Amino acid sequence: MRFLSISAAVLASVALVTADLSKIVRVDPASQQFIDANGRSRFFHGTNMIKKVPPYHADINQFDPGYSLVDRDIQVLKDLNINSIRLGVQWTGVEPVRGQYNQTYLDITGTIIQRLQDNGIYALLDQHQDVWAPQLCGEGAPDWFVQPGWVIPSDMMPVPQQSTPFAVDANGMPSAADCDSIDWSTSYLDYAVGNAFGRLYNNYDSLGDAWALYWKTVVTNYHMLPGVLGYDLMNEPWVGDHMADPTLLIPGRADSVNLEPLWNKGTAQIRTVDNTTIVFFEGVTFDILSGFENVPGGDGTHTAQSYHYYKPPQLGSVETTIQNRITDATRLKTTGMMTEFQFWGSDNATLALILEAAQMADTYMQSWQGWSYEELWSGDNYSLPLAQIYARTYAEATAGVAKTLYFQDTTAKYWVSWIADTSITAPGLIRIAPNTYYPDGIRVFFVPAGTGTYTMENENVVQLHYTSTAVTGQTIQASVQPYFPTDIIKSSASTGFCMDNSNAFVNPNNPIIIWGCSSSANQVWKFKNGTISLAFDPSHNHDTFCLDTQPIASKTYFSAVLNPCQAGSQTQQWSVNAAGNIINASNGYCLDITGSTYKAGTDVITYPCSGNPNQEWILPRGASGTW
Ligand SMILES: *[C@@H]1O[C@H](CO)[C@@H](O)[C@H](O)[C@H]1NC(C)=O
Ligand SMILES: *[C@@H]1O[C@H](CO)[C@@H](O)[C@H](O)[C@H]1NC(C)=O
Ligand SMILES: *[C@@H]1O[C@H](CO)[C@@H](O)[C@H](O)[C@H]1NC(C)=O
Ligand SMILES: *[C@@H]1O[C@H](CO)[C@@H](O)[C@H](O)[C@H]1NC(C)=O
Ligand SMILES: *[C@@H]1O[C@H](CO)[C@@H](O)[C@H](O)[C@H]1NC(C)=O
Ligand SMILES: *[C@@H]1O[C@H](CO)[C@@H](O)[C@H](O)[C@H]1NC(C)=O
Repeated sequence: MRFLSISAAVLASVALVTADLSKIVRVDPASQQFIDANGRSRFFHGTNMIKKVPPYHADINQFDPGYSLVDRDIQVLKDLNINSIRLGVQWTGVEPVRGQYNQTYLDITGTIIQRLQDNGIYALLDQHQDVWAPQLCGEGAPDWFVQPGWVIPSDMMPVPQQSTPFAVDANGMPSAADCDSIDWSTSYLDYAVGNAFGRLYNNYDSLGDAWALYWKTVVTNYHMLPGVLGYDLMNEPWVGDHMADPTLLIPGRADSVNLEPLWNKGTAQIRTVDNTTIVFFEGVTFDILSGFENVPGGDGTHTAQSYHYYKPPQLGSVETTIQNRITDATRLKTTGMMTEFQFWGSDNATLALILEAAQMADTYMQSWQGWSYEELWSGDNYSLPLAQIYARTYAEATAGVAKTLYFQDTTAKYWVSWIADTSITAPGLIRIAPNTYYPDGIRVFFVPAGTGTYTMENENVVQLHYTSTAVTGQTIQASVQPYFPTDIIKSSASTGFCMDNSNAFVNPNNPIIIWGCSSSANQVWKFKNGTISLAFDPSHNHDTFCLDTQPIASKTYFSAVLNPCQAGSQTQQWSVNAAGNIINASNGYCLDITGSTYKAGTDVITYPCSGNPNQEWILPRGASGTW
């Protein structure tokens, strides 16, 4: 009896954990949204986990920064607020000897997928490759794929990138040092690389069939796991034998001539085992618009184009690339997902580009996975500025077709709107990273008011429920906001001006001025427990710098300044009255725009309350009275 009740509890908890990892069952081509088994639209934020060298899988026993999947990694993935991983399931790991599949490798990969699933994270299984095989200074395909004598000796790697071929060992492998001496991306243009891809596409020695059977093996092992989001047939496929047929280099041509038939072949094998899971397919990386005539297997409701944004080879902005891929998806009656974008160069410039990509993905309702988990780590620590971008709030499920997604980076406010479908009983889901953005908890608002309620599935997932007031077909908006009001403070008399921490200097006694409203971090304030603090100072410390006052020599009034927050400091205590006066600084004075001079740079002071408009402010919702 005792034994039985324990197993029932274990079963119940397993059911709870997996309850919301509902299987992604199709794509709605009209909205270009992924749909789960509960009928909800789904969105993914994630990163790539690809182990390109032996043993070709993450370490599941010991922490190894960027290359393991143990408890510490799971905690980091939660802090990153991600719900999906593009996971390399390397062909060379699966089939080290032709026709012999390595069950040990497959089982370890199964453990990884299961571990992700148990923690609410989907896996997109990826046949990752770069420059195909070790004989070509690349990786992905098994060692047995490339055979000696496929190209004449004088055309071997890396000709014509360099005129002299590298020396090779008895197994035909060039040395690591030689391979490191060339630019890997340029080596796609080499004779030997084009030749190998050509043989894959024209099924020389049944190599295309072998690739398709690798996929069947992968799918047979994992298709029953609801956490499997999809199968990404091949990372960044090359065009084929461009030396024999240079027209393959014409954008779009290789997609239809070479890739599409192989994608159909792989999908046919996958579909003998699994008719549900989404097949992701890539075009040639330098294509601006895809040249496919149809999606793999012909059914766009179970496919998605997996696309990347790097510049080069893409020419325009990330927005242009996303627009082009939406055009592709519209023509092919399917959807797409940005599965890699913009390397991080450990600098602010690339950080800004990564943020731009994440913002554009919201604007166009695209799911994304960044490159890559390993890049986040530097030694034993991961990059906080990069993690902050990953951790942005997002709707991962809407109970109805989503219409808009928007996260405001400076205030951590999030809005999602969707067309209600009250026949969907599973809750909408919003992912949050409390440690990064909501240290004091959240508030949730619905518009129209009263159409929804919320519960927490766990500290990272907000569940949105319809009330009986919600009507199918109406647009509902939900907003997740920091528990304490957070926003700009506008002058009431001259609404173009906002209270501004001068020059964004986070220093003691830094002056507070008025400046044109910009919503930048030095204008966003948090109202908490009677204090007004900078909501997000550049180091993203919370509640560390507060609005304060400072005596001015030979004056009876005070200057408004920024100072380190001090518990119990009277000069840092404020309240707001019905007129919009921000009162006190220990003496009942009001915050005041000096001399009613409405121009950028005018000092804010505290002055005896006068009833004049230069002391009236428009404050964020919830910041009236005391807070
Ligand atoms: C099979 O996979 C395991 C786990 O990665 C590895 O230790 C072993 O060497 C592999 N076997 C072969 C033949 O590659
Ligand atoms: C998938 O659908 C095809 C076509 O209807 C069918 O032939 C095949 O048996 C199905 N596969 C599975 C695993 O059900
Ligand atoms: C990046 O920006 C931050 C905040 O503005 C600054 O403190 C830091 O020095 C910058 N880092 C680099 C490498 O420019
Ligand atoms: C990691 O972060 C800790 C705490 O901030 C710091 O003491 C340590 O030096 C960092 N390690 C590396 C390798 O940067
Ligand atoms: C609010 O401020 C008062 C006075 O500084 C302090 O005693 C109290 O602990 C604060 N409450 C919270 C929830 O921070
Ligand atoms: C104004 O300052 C006085 C004196 O320190 C204090 O008792 C009072 O609570 C303050 N008023 C407000 C509205 O903060």
